[in-house]
Amino acid sequence: MSQANDYIVIKAKEDGVNVIGLTRGTDTRFHHSEKLDRNEVMIAQFTEHTSAIKVRGKATIQTAHGNIESDQ
Ligand code: TRP
Repeated sequence: MSQANDYIVIKAKEDGVNVIGLTRGTDTRFHHSEKLDRNEVMIAQFTEHTSAIKVRGKATIQTAHGNIESDQ
């Protein structure tokens, strides 16, 4: 699958940032929640199982489409 190459990088700017994976397919629901503390970094991919990623909290998010500050 082409989306398997799409990595995104999330760097937490505060404690307790949540990175939530949502399922691919007809049923879009949370399947995984990862908690990051300040300065922790998560590198994640879109996969066969994951079609969307939700970030809750202050973080820098880097994707092939650009960089986003979730608190601005
Ligand atoms: N087992 C999940 C999957 O392969 C793990 C995963 C991939 C994930 N990307 C994610 C979990 C992004 C949370 C956020 O799809």
